[in-house]
Amino acid sequence: AIHSINQLLLGSVAAGSEVTIRGWIRSRRDSKAGISFLHVHDGTCFNPLQAVVPSELDNYEEEVLKLCAGCSVIITGTLVESEGKGQAYEIQATGVDVVGWVDDPETYPVAKKRHTFEYLRTVAHLRPRTNAIGAITRVRTCLSSAIHRYFHEREFNWINTPILTSSDCEGAGEMFRVSTLDMVNPPKTDAGAIDYAKDFFGQETFLTVSGQLNVESYCLAMSKVYTFGPTFRAENSHTSRHLAEFWMVEPEIAFANLKDDADLAEDFLKYLFKAVLNERADDMAFFAERINKDAINRLQNVVENQFVRMDYTEAVAILQKCGKTFEYPVEWGIDLQSEHERYLAEEHVGAPVIIMNYPKDIKAFYMRLNDDNKTVAAMDVLAPGIGEIIGGSQREDRLDVMDARIDATFKGPAESHKEALWWYRDLRRYGSVPHAGFGLGFERLLSYVTGMENVRDVIPFPRTPGNAPF
Ligand code: 4AD
Ligand code: MG
Repeated sequence: AIHSINQLLLGSVAAGSEVTIRGWIRSRRDSKAGISFLHVHDGTCFNPLQAVVPSELDNYEEEVLKLCAGCSVIITGTLVESEGKGQAYEIQATGVDVVGWVDDPETYPVAKKRHTFEYLRTVAHLRPRTNAIGAITRVRTCLSSAIHRYFHEREFNWINTPILTSSDCEGAGEMFRVSTLDMVNPPKTDAGAIDYAKDFFGQETFLTVSGQLNVESYCLAMSKVYTFGPTFRAENSHTSRHLAEFWMVEPEIAFANLKDDADLAEDFLKYLFKAVLNERADDMAFFAERINKDAINRLQNVVENQFVRMDYTEAVAILQKCGKTFEYPVEWGIDLQSEHERYLAEEHVGAPVIIMNYPKDIKAFYMRLNDDNKTVAAMDVLAPGIGEIIGGSQREDRLDVMDARIDATFKGPAESHKEALWWYRDLRRYGSVPHAGFGLGFERLLSYVTGMENVRDVIPFPRTPGNAPF
């Protein structure tokens, strides 16, 4: 029977059974005694399975001795307990079928040796064959399913919010415009230029920056909802934490305030960390050994301890008093920069920290204005090594207050923004309730969990300014 390598290494098949595995060669070693050892991976677990191949096989000289990293094979044999350390089982091969050769082993782009992550991005189509990207891929899957499980267990409905939209949720003007132009005969303005206003059958259309506005509408009917999907930001950021296309998890809860929101974020993150520690111990051991020696410990600490929470005002005071010179000077009213966020999380707290109640002028129009009239009920969760991983808020549920914020926030004629948001404003007119939610950047979460320094290495095919080759 055909088995995954994971099933075999876990011991779900009795030793002595006839088994077949299918996968790719990671390495081949030949002993003088006329035996070859093949390490085969199939993506189902961190460790490869060793196949012990005797020289008696018909194709031993002709084929087995020519196998190299990257060749695809089907191996049949007897599963036996292994005497070698580091592996519980191995296969005594009775047949090795070569399915696909590697054209030129000398130039195989991911031949078995250490490659830099920067280099691996240039061979994004082959990098899943490496240990690191394989491990990241399994952790990504584990976290995705833990996310759905967490919400499912707590009566949240999953809302598939649209990717094509006309609203700019964050109001930051960082949207990709989608064109339906007929490129052969594009509509022209009177001046002869391409008439982009005729996008999407006459309506300007963009890729969403966040599903929040849509998910709020379902929240105010279904009580607890979330959206989890790709989002897009046309910001020209060349950093290790920005992508032009990234995945975001956005829960939204009704009859809830900022504290409830922060409690949800804390409970959610702890659940996810526990899941990955339990379910991907093999991959996490690799990250701890090769990427960040603290990778496992720090997650365990987070799970066991309460998150530190502090107001923005207090965070500013800490930054001003800490004696460190920042590139970007700190004063009340600034948007915290990555260097400030990292100081707070890494040096001041040494764990994720929740900063709450930011100045209204640096935050989006939908955040609830506090009684001080200066701050909004916003929160960010900052993590060591990466900075902001979550941004959220209690939403403004009072129509008059929100209208005033729309007027103050958006450039251009305020009426048109209110018109465009007519449906969102309706939610404040019909059974409005206090509600709150947040967005967790999935790649930033993965960066933190694995210790990988660049978000480009935790998404299969990264899209960044000027770089989307595949
Ligand atoms: O703080 P942001 O912009 O918040 C929102 O979009 C809200 N509408 C979310 C909500 O309340 N439902 O983005 C949320 C998170 C950030 O904390 C960050 O983790 C991630 O999304 N993020 C990015 N990740 C990768 N690349 C980018 N360019 C990102 N921009 C934001
Ligand atoms: Mg934010």
